Amino acid sequence: MLQSNPALLDIVSHAKTGFSDRFGFNATLAAAAPGRVNLIGEHIDYCDGFVMPFAIDRYIVVVGSANGTPHARVSSAISDEIATLDLTQLQEISEPKWANYLRGVIRGFQDLGHTIPGFDAYIDSSIPGGAGLSSSAALECAMATFLEGLLEIQLGTKEKALLCQKAEHDFANVPCGIMDQYASAFGEPNRLVLIDCQTGEPKLVPFEDPSLTVLISNTMVHHELSDGGYALRRKHTEDGLEIIGKSSWRDVTEAEVRDRWEILGDPINRRARHVVGEISRTLAAATALADNDVEALGPLMAASHDSLRDDFEVSCHELDLMVEIARKIGRSGGVIGTRMTGGGFGGSTVTLCESKHADSIAAMLGAEYEKATGITPQIFASRPSRGAHLLE
Ligand code: GLA
Repeated sequence: MLQSNPALLDIVSHAKTGFSDRFGFNATLAAAAPGRVNLIGEHIDYCDGFVMPFAIDRYIVVVGSANGTPHARVSSAISDEIATLDLTQLQEISEPKWANYLRGVIRGFQDLGHTIPGFDAYIDSSIPGGAGLSSSAALECAMATFLEGLLEIQLGTKEKALLCQKAEHDFANVPCGIMDQYASAFGEPNRLVLIDCQTGEPKLVPFEDPSLTVLISNTMVHHELSDGGYALRRKHTEDGLEIIGKSSWRDVTEAEVRDRWEILGDPINRRARHVVGEISRTLAAATALADNDVEALGPLMAASHDSLRDDFEVSCHELDLMVEIARKIGRSGGVIGTRMTGGGFGGSTVTLCESKHADSIAAMLGAEYEKATGITPQIFASRPSRGAHLLE
């Protein structure tokens, strides 16, 4: 039941073959960017909170070459379609839709004053789409890294992540926070990316104990953040902050939320309770990790999930079920903590467990989930991996 992660070099070589089959010559450049999983700190990156994701060893790969024309032609392993982009123009939202992520990133480079030379590119991926593992941020970061290679420049890592976030806002219509693009850009092997979303500063936190494994369980319920639920949650938090009368959620206490419960009204009061609680849970988790007290993560992850389910209302039946199964396996079965991860409304759960039990936990999660839903989930383990980079 525990799937293995395809080796990055295999994805690159597969993409290179795809490229030459489609375009009839060889790709000279290859860029890769990982997806992410978030251990704790959910839906608070746009609330000046703290988040603790890491880059997973699943990637989007963009390979390609300059083509000597004023156009970009982009294709992928998913379909035979070739999107053609006129690079003499400032990029705007257009058809096909999937190419908007690329247009958004190219536009970011154009806004920085760069003229993009014509190129052909081919995309391949080992990140399941719609699984809450940031395949879109990975696509943006891989494209940005590819363009760095093409232009022979290097943006600052933060600049690159912010450019990609802007592409997501303006071209995919998702008002996301900075977590996904930061994780994909700043990720390092054996490091969590603890982000202070108020200052925009990431801190790389060691996470290398081989006796711990992070399991990712994709419920296969496709999540879509552009359909309004995400934007509405963000709006609730903005309205809540305004009613409380502060300029940052970092300055709001649990007592202040309780005192204004009626004025805030439902559901904004519950959204507010989530934000304030999740910020303190994430800080507690960071402290626990620094103290090597990994057991403390269990109750924090549990409270995070319950809050996302009941107060923030971004979970769904299948995510709750996957979490319940892991909870039932429990500490005696090797589960340290479990919760939904990412934007929600479908997608994946993250389960921190003892490595020696990872196989049996994955088998039980898979079997029980399938028995209850008829859906075969996708379950794999991931260690923190290297962020967006060019390959030789
Ligand atoms: C999505 C967004 C992130 C973050 C998470 C929820 O992944 O892109 O910015 O808000 O949801 O934590």
